[in-house]
Amino acid sequence: MKIGFWGSGNMSRVLGGAWSVAGHHITFGSRDVAKARNIAEEIGSGGNGWHK
Ligand SMILES: NC(=O)c1ccc[n+]([C@@H]2O[C@H](COP(=O)([O-])OP(=O)(O)OC[C@H]3O[C@@H](n4cnc5c(N)ncnc54)[C@H](OP(=O)(O)O)[C@@H]3O)[C@@H](O)[C@H]2O)c1
Repeated sequence: MKIGFWGSGNMSRVLGGAWSVAGHHITFGSRDVAKARNIAEEIGSGGNGWHK
């Protein structure tokens, strides 16, 4: 599945990381694009970050 989060905080990091490991493609939104990209990089190739 393709899953998106509004906000790149604790919940999106933990759930996004777990769902990425399970094979889903995760997109993170944030008011700070660097924060979204950092989380995407942390969880690996399953995710990407964008600015909301
Ligand atoms: N952590 C838990 O164990 C837990 C458990 C149950 C429920 N919850 C609930 O889940 C929600 C998120 O928790 P969290 O621990 O992930 O919190 P968090 O780490 O503080 O993250 C909150 C996110 O909300 C976004 N945000 C805050 N103010 C905003 C605004 N004015 N406009 C747009 N975005 C805004 C931020 O996004 P940016 O990336 O843009 O900064 C931030 O990433 C909360 O409502 C919390 O009560 C948390």
